[in-house]
Amino acid sequence: MDFLTTTGISKQQLHSLLQLAKNLKEEHKCGKPNNSLAGKTLALLFEKPSTRTLASFQLGMAQLGGSATLLSSSNSQLSRGEPMKDTGAILGRYADIIAARLYSHADLEELAQASSSPVINALTDLDHPCQALAALLTMKEHNKLFAGSKFVFAGDCGFNVANALMAATSLAGMEITLACPRECKINEEYLSFARSRSTVEVSHDLFAAAKDADVIYTDTWVSMGQEEEKEKRMQMFLPFQVNSQVMKEAKKGAIFMHDLPAYRGKEVTAGVIDGPQSTIYDEAENRLHVQKALMLHLLGKA
Ligand code: CP
Repeated sequence: MDFLTTTGISKQQLHSLLQLAKNLKEEHKCGKPNNSLAGKTLALLFEKPSTRTLASFQLGMAQLGGSATLLSSSNSQLSRGEPMKDTGAILGRYADIIAARLYSHADLEELAQASSSPVINALTDLDHPCQALAALLTMKEHNKLFAGSKFVFAGDCGFNVANALMAATSLAGMEITLACPRECKINEEYLSFARSRSTVEVSHDLFAAAKDADVIYTDTWVSMGQEEEKEKRMQMFLPFQVNSQVMKEAKKGAIFMHDLPAYRGKEVTAGVIDGPQSTIYDEAENRLHVQKALMLHLLGKA
């Protein structure tokens, strides 16, 4: 059993993972030891840089009594083009579970196909399912995760984080509004998945989209691998910056979310991201707990 896409989980699995993560977080806060994964090993295969994902997987595995090893582009044969098929077959024989951050989702599928151990998507160009779980746990903690709650994604609605959140918030029955430029290509498969479970509006006017929102989420305008298009993308997304005027359109008590790293003054102003409605550090913290829940689930310990 792998965890490659947010569309691959059911509503029931989503809620049980969130409940398990909540329990693990409470246990961790009380300092209660949990050695459920003693003797288990995690291989981290990372083609791209990471702060949150890497640290939360490594430390999460250690907190559950297991151990982790990192293979990056610089310390492995990844950069020399060793086939994912060979890498997956071998890591599957060494490790009990693999978390992989790869540029291409097709490469992740090839890795998972060859591995005898479960593979977790730690971000690809298509999806970021661990981020979606952490975002939903954060919404739950802030009482925003309920059917009919209005979720607005502002900016780049055509990439991994938007895809993951579209799928996850629709599973939770939230009403989704995607606020993006006309040129932005929304993933048809994820849009259709979300529309089959909830309502999804597409707007090209962020102020109108933000009206009565419970949650406003944004992400960087230039993701890893898009650096060559930086200037064009900056111009294209400029009208979709989340600032205090946008937040005023949302409900009183609405929260602001971002998966980080963030670029203050670009997709969000410093006043909003560092202001009282921001939940950025809660969401980053929750990466640890949802990934621990996920590893326990995939290794049959939950
Ligand atoms: N949000 C996220 O995935 O952060 P990192 O790139 O630091 O892992």
